[in-house]
Amino acid sequence: MRVRKGIVLAGGTGTRLHPMTSAVSKQLMPIFDKPMIYYPISVLIQAGIRDILVITTPHDQAQFQTLLRDGSQWGLNIEWAVQASPDGIAQALIIAEDYLAGSPSALILGDNLYFGSGFIKTLQSAKRRNAGATIFGYQVGDPSRYGVIGFDKVGKVVSLIEKPSRPASNYAVTGLYFYDENAPNYAKTIKPSDRCEIEITELNKIYLNRSELQVELLGEGTTWLDTGTTKSLLAAAQFVSAIEERQGLRICCPEVESFRKGWISSEALAELAIPLQKSGYGDYLTKIASLK
Ligand code: DAU
Repeated sequence: MRVRKGIVLAGGTGTRLHPMTSAVSKQLMPIFDKPMIYYPISVLIQAGIRDILVITTPHDQAQFQTLLRDGSQWGLNIEWAVQASPDGIAQALIIAEDYLAGSPSALILGDNLYFGSGFIKTLQSAKRRNAGATIFGYQVGDPSRYGVIGFDKVGKVVSLIEKPSRPASNYAVTGLYFYDENAPNYAKTIKPSDRCEIEITELNKIYLNRSELQVELLGEGTTWLDTGTTKSLLAAAQFVSAIEERQGLRICCPEVESFRKGWISSEALAELAIPLQKSGYGDYLTKIASLK
C-alpha cells in the first residue's frame, strides 16, 4: 500500500473578504496568532501525513514559500503547484495527479479549522481505510452555505447536494476529503457546474454512487470552522483566542504537532523558537521543547 499524501488547496480569489484579500492571499491571513494555512497543515500532521502538496494561485506562491519553505524544518516534505484560476475544488486532484502518482490522498481546504478531542482518532481511522473515500459531516445552523448530506430513515447517506436552497439535513460536508488512488481519474470526468467549477460534491457523489463513500459525523467534541466571510474569520479568531487563553496552550502549531509525532527533536523545536521569541509564539515552542 502506498503512503497517503496530503494536498492543501490554498488558491481562490478570496472575494468575500475583499479588500483584506485584495493584495494578500486569504490563507495567509491571521487566525488569532498564526497564519490560516497552519491550521489545515496541522490537521494533516495529526493524520500522520508528512508528504504535502500545497496548491496556490500563481501570484501568491512565493509568499507561501517564504512561510513554509520545503517543510523540512517541520519534518515535512512540502511540494508546490499552482492553480491558474479557481475552477473548482475537485480540480486539485487533477493538478495533483502526477504528484500523487497512484497514492491515496487527503485533500484539505486552506481555510478550514478543526479542533477537538475525538477528531484525531476519527482522522486516523479514515487514514487507515484504503478503498473509497471518506468525508466528514458537521452539524451547522446554516447548511445552505455548504455541500449538504441527506440521510434515509435508518441514517444511511443517500444524497449530497451543493448549496441546496432546501437542505435535506443540517449536516454540512466539511473541507477535508480522503480519497483512494482513483480520485484524479474520477475528477477528470466531472463537467463544470453552473458556477463554472469542477465541484468537489460531484466527486463525492461518484464515490457515493459506487457505494464507496464513508461519512464520518464529527460530534459535539469537535469544532469545525470555515473562514469564508469576515464574520466567520472573526469567530474563528475568537474561538482560538478563548481556547488558548483558557487552557494556556496554543492549538494547531505545526511545529508542535510534528514534535508530538516525533518528526522533529526537542533541540530542533527549540531552534525554531528563536526567531519567534518576540511574539510569544516562540516562548510557547521553547516551553514545549523543555518539557521532554
Ligand atoms: O467549507 C466547506 C465547503 O467548501 C463545502 O461544504 C462545499 O461542498 C464546498 O464546495 C466548499 O464550498 P465553498 O463554496 O464555500 O468553497 P469556496 O469557493 O469558498 O472555496 C473554499 C476554499 O477553497 C477557499 O479557501 C478557496 C479554495 N479554492 C476554491 C476553489 C473553488 C481554491 O483554492 N480553488 C478553487 O478553485
